[in-house]
Amino acid sequence: MNLTSNELLRLLLAIGAVSAYGLMCLLIARRETAKRRVETQFAGDAHAAPPAWRIAYASQTGTAEEIARLTADTFRLAGVRVLLTAMSALDDAALVSSERILFIVSTYGEGDPPDNAALFAQRQMSRILPLGHLHYAALILGDRSYTHFCGFGQQLNSWLNAQGARALFPFIEVDRCDSASMNAWYQQLSHLAGTDDAPDWQGPTFTAWRLAARAHLNPGSQGNDIFHLEFEPAGETSLPDWESGDLAQIQAPTDVHPREYSIASIPRDGRVHLLVRLHRHMDGTYGAASGWLTQALHVGDNVPLRIRQHERFRLGENAARPLILIGNGSGISGLRGHLKARVEAKSGPNWLLFGERNSACDFHYRAELETWLENGALDKLDVVFSRDKPERRYVQDRILEASCALQDWINQGAAIYVCGSLKGMAGGVDDALAAILSRSTLDELSSTGRYRRDVY
Ligand SMILES: Cc1cc2nc3c(=O)[nH]c(=O)nc-3n(C[C@H](O)[C@H](O)[C@H](O)COP(=O)(O)OP(=O)(O)OC[C@H]3O[C@@H](n4cnc5c(N)ncnc54)[C@H](O)[C@@H]3O)c2cc1C
Ligand SMILES: Cc1cc2nc3c(=O)[nH]c(=O)nc-3n(C[C@H](O)[C@H](O)[C@H](O)COP(=O)(O)O)c2cc1C
Repeated sequence: MNLTSNELLRLLLAIGAVSAYGLMCLLIARRETAKRRVETQFAGDAHAAPPAWRIAYASQTGTAEEIARLTADTFRLAGVRVLLTAMSALDDAALVSSERILFIVSTYGEGDPPDNAALFAQRQMSRILPLGHLHYAALILGDRSYTHFCGFGQQLNSWLNAQGARALFPFIEVDRCDSASMNAWYQQLSHLAGTDDAPDWQGPTFTAWRLAARAHLNPGSQGNDIFHLEFEPAGETSLPDWESGDLAQIQAPTDVHPREYSIASIPRDGRVHLLVRLHRHMDGTYGAASGWLTQALHVGDNVPLRIRQHERFRLGENAARPLILIGNGSGISGLRGHLKARVEAKSGPNWLLFGERNSACDFHYRAELETWLENGALDKLDVVFSRDKPERRYVQDRILEASCALQDWINQGAAIYVCGSLKGMAGGVDDALAAILSRSTLDELSSTGRYRRDVY
C-alpha cells in the first residue's frame, strides 16, 4: 500500500489519538476500580477492622448531614475507614470505644440542639464520661443573626473538653455556610486524611425557575398576608424529582443568605408549590425574601431556586404507618405535600390538625381538604381558629382534648409530623404530646423517626 505523506501524517495522528484515548480510559478504569474497592471494602463488612474515624452529625434541615457525607467521601477516597452516624446513634459505648470522632453539628431554637441530637444532649451531655482517650474535631454551623450563635456546638465542645477529650484543632464556626470556614475545614481534613485531594467547598448551585402563578390566600386577614406560589423550571430544563417533606431554597436578589420554604406539592403536580407569609419589619418594610417573592416579582419572572432533600421530614419508613399531621399558618405547606403523597399512594389513615386565626380568611386550601375528607383520603380533620371566639384556642389545645384518640393512633403505630412556627406552636404541641404520651415516649418516637418536625 502506497501512502502519500499527508495520508501517512493523518494515520499517525489517528493512531496517536486512539492510543491516548485508550491510555486515558485505562487510567480512569484503574482509578474507578481502586475507588470502588475502597468503597465496598469499607461499606458493610461487619467483620472488618473498626473504623479509623467516626463522623457524627447533628442536623435539622440537612446541611450538616450533607457536609458530613462530603467529609466521609473525602476520607474514603483517601483510603481511610470511616463510619458516618447521626448523633442520635452515638451512645456511651460508641463514645467510649471511639478514638477519633469528627462532629459536624448545627444549632436550632435558641442555642439548642437539632432534634436528632436532643437525646444525646439530654442523656450524654448531662453526665460525666471518661473520654481521655478521645481525639476529636468539630465543625459547628450556625447563623450570626441568632443571639446564641453556634450555641449547641459550643456546648458540645465545652462538654467534650470537660470529659478530657482532646481537640485536634480549635473548633471551626461556620456562619451560614461561609466559604472561608468551609475551606478551612477541608484543609484540616486533608491533613487528617493525608491527602491533597480534598475538594474545595462548593456553595449551593441554584437554577432558574419561573413564577408560573401566585394567589393571595387570605385577603382581610388579621394576620400577615399569605400567598400560594407555583414555580416551574425555566427554559427547557425538565422538572427534577423530590419527595414530600423536601424544601425549596430561594436566593433573593438583595444580598441576603438563601431562604428555605417547605414544598407544598409533589412532582406529579408538575410544579413546586410554596406558601409564603409576607414578613413585615417593625419599621414597616417587608422581609427581604418574602417581600420580593410576593410583592416585587411578577408572574413570568425567574428566580434562583434549588430543591433540598430534607431527610428528617420525609415520609421514609413511615410511609406505611398512620399519620398525624400537625401545623399552623404557613406550616400547612409541608403537611399538604405529605397529604398529596398519601393521596397518590392511596395510603392512610391520615389525621390533620391545623391552626390559624380566623375561619373566614385563614382556612388555607379549605376546598381541597374538605374534598379529601369527603372521599376518605383524610380520615380526621381538626381545624382550630384562635380568633373566632373571645377565648383564645390553639392547635395544642385541640391535641389535649383529643388525647384518647391520639393515644389510640400512636398505639396503632402512627407517626407524628409537625410543621410551622417554632415560637408558640412547636413548643406548645411538644408539651401537649409529652403530657399525653409521656416525655420518654416522645423522645423514643423522635429517636426512632416517628416524631418529625419542620419548624422555623
Ligand atoms: C426549614 C424552614 C422552612 C420554612 N418554610 C417556610 C414556609 O413554608 N413558608 C414561609 O413563609 N416561611 C418559611 N420559612 C421561613 C423563611 O425561610 C423566611 O425566614 C421568611 O420568609 C422570612 O424571610 P424574609 O427574608 O422575608 O424576612 P427577613 O428580612 O429575614 O425578616 C424576617 C425577620 O427578621 C427580623 N428582621 C430582619 N431584618 C430586620 C430589620 N431590618 N429590622 C427589623 N427586623 C428585622 C424580623 O424579626 C423579621 O420579621 C421556613 C424556614 C425554614 C428554616
Ligand atoms: C428555627 C431556626 C433556629 C435557629 N437557631 C439558631 C441559633 O440559635 N444559633 C445559631 O447559631 N444558628 C441558628 N440557626 C441557624 C442554623 O444552625 C443554620 O442555618 C445551620 O446551617 C442549619 O444546619 P442544618 O441544615 O444541618 O440543620 C437556626 C435556624 C433555624 C431555621
